[in-house]
Amino acid sequence: MKAENIVTLTMNPAIDVSAAVKHMITDHKIRCLKTKRDPGGGGINVARCLKRFGADPLAIFPMGGASGHMLERLVAGEEVRHQSFVIARDCRANFTANEMDTGAQYRFVLPGPTLGEEEWNAGLGLMTQASSNGYAVASGSLPRGVPHDFYARLARNLRVMGGAKLVLDTSGPPLKHALDLGVYLVKPSLSEFSDLLDTATPDHQACLAAARNLVVNGKAEIVALTMGADGAMLVSRDVALYAKPPPVTVRGTVGAGDSFLALLVMSIANRKSLAESFRMAVAGGSAALLSPGTGLCMPDIVAELTPQVQITSMI
Ligand SMILES: Nc1ncnc2c1ncn2[C@@H]1O[C@H](COP(=O)(O)OP(=O)(O)OP(=O)(O)O)[C@@H](O)[C@H]1O
Ligand SMILES: [Mg+2]
Repeated sequence: MKAENIVTLTMNPAIDVSAAVKHMITDHKIRCLKTKRDPGGGGINVARCLKRFGADPLAIFPMGGASGHMLERLVAGEEVRHQSFVIARDCRANFTANEMDTGAQYRFVLPGPTLGEEEWNAGLGLMTQASSNGYAVASGSLPRGVPHDFYARLARNLRVMGGAKLVLDTSGPPLKHALDLGVYLVKPSLSEFSDLLDTATPDHQACLAAARNLVVNGKAEIVALTMGADGAMLVSRDVALYAKPPPVTVRGTVGAGDSFLALLVMSIANRKSLAESFRMAVAGGSAALLSPGTGLCMPDIVAELTPQVQITSMI
């Protein structure tokens, strides 16, 4: 059986620079070791992760300036199929410092370039065209200049053409707008979900009730809520599952959500059950924690952790 098409869209990609530092201090130069450059941004990370598991995703992203060329080279270096659309301004770089003395991680996220209407429309058109079937994964923040209803427009386009199922991982007003139209799968983190509900951190029962509301009201067919160290919840019309992740030594949390999402979509695309897909996704999130820097999960570690994920039904 032919694998289903998976296309990812990253409107605000970045070159993720990571380095180890002995100790963070003020006022003095901090010498960095073990520097690494990775192509990043939600959708690009999802595509990179899928590639490691033998899938053949297509990554779509804007490309601007010399840093945009470097980003494209880094993506090509991982043999991820990609299509870029040209923008006038330079792509951003993010920086993660891993402090060796304490194990603490400092994540500096830059705002990224402003996009003009023609530019974001080109991205919307490219993504729509590439997503005639399978799964369209839109992940990450929207850069300045892109309207809040951008993902909602994508949802509308896909619906009108009977195209791919939209999988969305974003936050704030762009998330709200897209849910008003309805998506296939949404993956908020707990803070993104609290923000969406406009409440202080909800407990499990409140999360379950809110996730079911989204499903019942046609805003999302599947809600995959990730709650950091507290695990994750997956709610659809037929299931409400909670997963407790296996205990692992956290070396960095960058890439956990992207690894989770990549494995969830891949398993669903491979027609695994929701429970089985969820189990693998949670293992992916945990496996990502074991690699410092902008680490995504590795297949051998996911295979080891998958049986250790405890899944229970909440209904
Ligand atoms: N500190 C942690 N301890 C154990 N597991 C974790 C931890 N952080 C993340 N995970 C695993 O990774 C998954 C995704 O993490 P999280 O909920 O933080 O989402 P995220 O998308 O990375 O967050 P955000 O987008 O808000 O930065 C969790 O469901 C969990 O399985
Ligand atoms: Mg996230």
